[in-house]
Amino acid sequence: MAQQRLDKLLAGTGRWSRREVKDLIRQGRVAVDGLRAGRPEDKCDPALSVLTVDGEEADCAPFVYLMLHKPAGLLSATEDRSQKTVLDLLPEPLRRRGLFPVGRLDKDTEGLLLLTDDGPLAHGLLSPRKHVDKVYFARVDGLLTREDVRALGEGMTLGDGLRCLPADLEALGDGSECRLTLREGKYHQAKRMLAARGKPVLYLKRLSMGPLMLDEALERGAWRPLKPEELRALRQETGA
Ligand code: URA
Repeated sequence: MAQQRLDKLLAGTGRWSRREVKDLIRQGRVAVDGLRAGRPEDKCDPALSVLTVDGEEADCAPFVYLMLHKPAGLLSATEDRSQKTVLDLLPEPLRRRGLFPVGRLDKDTEGLLLLTDDGPLAHGLLSPRKHVDKVYFARVDGLLTREDVRALGEGMTLGDGLRCLPADLEALGDGSECRLTLREGKYHQAKRMLAARGKPVLYLKRLSMGPLMLDEALERGAWRPLKPEELRALRQETGA
């Protein structure tokens, strides 16, 4: 979100007119990140700063950004006729905001899912041209070999002719687990690439998306707003 004038931002909440906002600022009742605001034309980024009037936070952030630890069993969708979606984990006011998941995780995949109503940022993260890294932890049926690492690292063509970009595969422990970094988001990509090597995925969890890492303090099904530095890093990554 770009910097915006304080009077415009506060008037945009609908609680005060532009005229009233100017008076509030002149009376020293408005603060940005705890510091008294000087002039109505001063600017701040509402997604990164806290704006208060008489010490009370004015909710003028135009977008919401939530980090969710997706549990297995929910669809990465905004609604579904018969099945629960990740939005069912949110309280009613947030469900009404028009949030959507940035990219899809399969129903049985767990891990990092970003929910937002910021279309341009989501587009920047998902754009096939941007190649944003997605890192997964996977447990497979079988033991991964150096050949598997090489094959994924060179980029693979799947049975149906689908060409996949080179992916980094790092075998962990005895080789039945791995860290897999994908730079695109094709349907069931992690599962299909590993299955093509004869190592079907038993468990899959997304650990990160670009600079955004799953907060391990979040239990499955829990969520929290992004921290300003996390949002800043995502903006830098996407140029949004
Ligand atoms: N790749 C998959 O196969 N499934 C996911 O949920 C994400 C990436």
